[in-house]
Amino acid sequence: MDSGFKTLTKFALSALLAATVQGVAANAESIAKGKFLIGVGGCNDCHTPGYSESGGRLPQATWLTGNGVGFKGPWGTSYPQNLRSSAAKMSAEEWIQMARRPMLPPMPAPAIATMSDSDLIAMYDFIKSLGAAEGEAPHALPPGVEPATPYIDFVPKNL
Ligand code: HEC
Repeated sequence: MDSGFKTLTKFALSALLAATVQGVAANAESIAKGKFLIGVGGCNDCHTPGYSESGGRLPQATWLTGNGVGFKGPWGTSYPQNLRSSAAKMSAEEWIQMARRPMLPPMPAPAIATMSDSDLIAMYDFIKSLGAAEGEAPHALPPGVEPATPYIDFVPKNL
């Protein structure tokens, strides 16, 4: 091997290593930021069964796995989806697009639609780091259809 080539190879390898180390660090930072945003966003309250009732003391392994208890209101019945299986199937770009589309109440869609790309990617990185989780929440039902699952009645009374 001629020495010019050796130097070039060494240079390329150390550049690659630096980029990888930087990539891992950036990802760890993004994952930590995503965990923080999921915490302050209250996402587990709906997307993790029993989370709110437990006072937030459920292990991370149970987080964001979706909820089979629906929210029934004038919009029909909506179910907090399994965000871990959603993230596992999507690229970061697809995740951003999904997070900004209209969603049924009581999903705080207008709130997450105001988050920056890097905020949404951080949440995606954190959710992906939890790994995919088995199980799907049911699909939303249109108004007038009685759900076969348990549900919370979100119809205002005594207006
Ligand atoms: C008050 C309950 C509630 C809270 C809090 C909540 N969600 Fe949701 N989320 C829902 C419901 C219900 C749906 C289903 C909406 C629909 O069917 O259009 C949903 C759907 C979603 C979806 C679409 C998933 C898919 O695969 O279609 C994403 C992404 C999402 N939520 C992210 C979040 C994030 C991130 C947070 C925290 C910032 C959060 N949610 C907080 C109830 C909630």
